[in-house]
Amino acid sequence: IFLLQTLSFPLYSSCLHQPSLDGSASPFPSDFFFGAASSAYQYEGAYLTDGKGLNNWDVFTHENPGKIGDGKNGDIAADQYHRFMEDIKSMTYLGLNSYRLSISWSRVLPKGRFGGVNYLGIKHYNSLIDALIKNGIKPFVTLNHFDYPQVFEDKFQSWLSPEIQIEFGYLADICFKHFGDRVKHWMTINEPNQQIILSYTKGIFPPSRCSTPYGNCSHGNSETEPFVAAHNMILAHAKAVQIYRTKYQKAQRGIIGIVVQTSWFEPISDSIADKKAAERAQSFYSNWILDPVVYGRYPEEMVNILGPDLPQFSNNEINNLMNSKSDFLGINHYTSYFIQDCLSSACNSGDGASKSEGFALKLDRKGNVSIGELTDVSWQHIHPEGFQKMLNYLTVRYPNIPMFITENGYGQLQKPETTIKELLNDTKRIQFMSGYLDALQGAMRDGANVKGYFAWSLLDNFEWLYGYKLRFGLFHVDYTTLKRTPKQSASWYKKFIEQHVKTE
Ligand code: NOJ
Repeated sequence: IFLLQTLSFPLYSSCLHQPSLDGSASPFPSDFFFGAASSAYQYEGAYLTDGKGLNNWDVFTHENPGKIGDGKNGDIAADQYHRFMEDIKSMTYLGLNSYRLSISWSRVLPKGRFGGVNYLGIKHYNSLIDALIKNGIKPFVTLNHFDYPQVFEDKFQSWLSPEIQIEFGYLADICFKHFGDRVKHWMTINEPNQQIILSYTKGIFPPSRCSTPYGNCSHGNSETEPFVAAHNMILAHAKAVQIYRTKYQKAQRGIIGIVVQTSWFEPISDSIADKKAAERAQSFYSNWILDPVVYGRYPEEMVNILGPDLPQFSNNEINNLMNSKSDFLGINHYTSYFIQDCLSSACNSGDGASKSEGFALKLDRKGNVSIGELTDVSWQHIHPEGFQKMLNYLTVRYPNIPMFITENGYGQLQKPETTIKELLNDTKRIQFMSGYLDALQGAMRDGANVKGYFAWSLLDNFEWLYGYKLRFGLFHVDYTTLKRTPKQSASWYKKFIEQHVKTE
């Protein structure tokens, strides 16, 4: 998306080279979860192994190699399907007590509910879950992280059809039934908001459908599709929660929630118009999903601006939402942006993305205003203060619901001239984590009810449109040999955990 130039961040600069490792005054309780996160398509590989069916990402990457930065795909990825025992050793080295993974839908149900269960897929996740638990690592399982059986696209346009709600409920039921005796932390859908913007607004993720003002992809061009897809995702989430609550939760004693992408939107000036624009930006991003999940309705700003273009929840659906409240909110967070109002005066958006909603993201590559230090990727600015503000904002808007930080991490771009030494001596990642973990502690001291933190990511992996060139791992993966090597950030995180884990 965007980027700008370096501002120092005074609050956090003191921990730049000497990360704060003194855990004595830390707010982390003794049952805090320190983990790392992953997802099936980005990690597993084994794309046709043991009966797995084709999913949307298999087909998209094979048909459009030119759309992936390095022309690659997830056929092999980090090969975690075959190497999870080794990866569990890496987790043990770090001292993790939890690991976030997702289920590959087409591995478990290659053709959805009419195609039968693939028991070899079930067996694989059983082995992985058992091995994690044996090593003292709690599995946090996401039911859907961007991938779904390709047949859904061909048969009923996947998230654009209410049919997907039934399919998702079926997947959820199968997973609770087979894994719920050991999995006590469930997440329904990863980042509905981000997934929809990339898939149905910008059209750069499969199924490559776009809505104006993007309008430059081959399908779609309906302004309402993103909102229809989101509606189905929200209701699919509610269905899964309902199934868990009515059939499994009492006996299995676990908890269930959803994961959203959050960015902090900072008004670019003190003007009321810019402040309202920043609020609208939140509404059209994370509140878009969280308000329905928590309150059974869309944010007021969305209702006012979109009018009839925003689907409505029927009374029955509102009841379903209210009867299937999340036990926690999963928060992914990577960056902040400046926001400028576009309603009261014409403004020049960083990329024009959100003009129709009356705000512009002010970014930088184009010489605008930077909110934080430049990183390798246009969409990421280092701005830990934004994380603290975001958590405080969520605490006020959704009081009494615990949160897990389900992802937070730093992407390093591998350029042709980048050396392996530079990849392993990842001081920028340490600086990032140090700042963001300080901000997390700040927010917890302010009253944010956060129960766990998952670094994105354990390993370098397939980073969607960037392919393998954008690396988020604490462990480096050599994609020729698939060898894993701890980066400096791995030893830093290990030490951080050692110093902050409290034993009772
Ligand atoms: C969030 C997504 O959930 C994850 O799949 C992705 O790799 C990271 N963001 C980094 O872009």
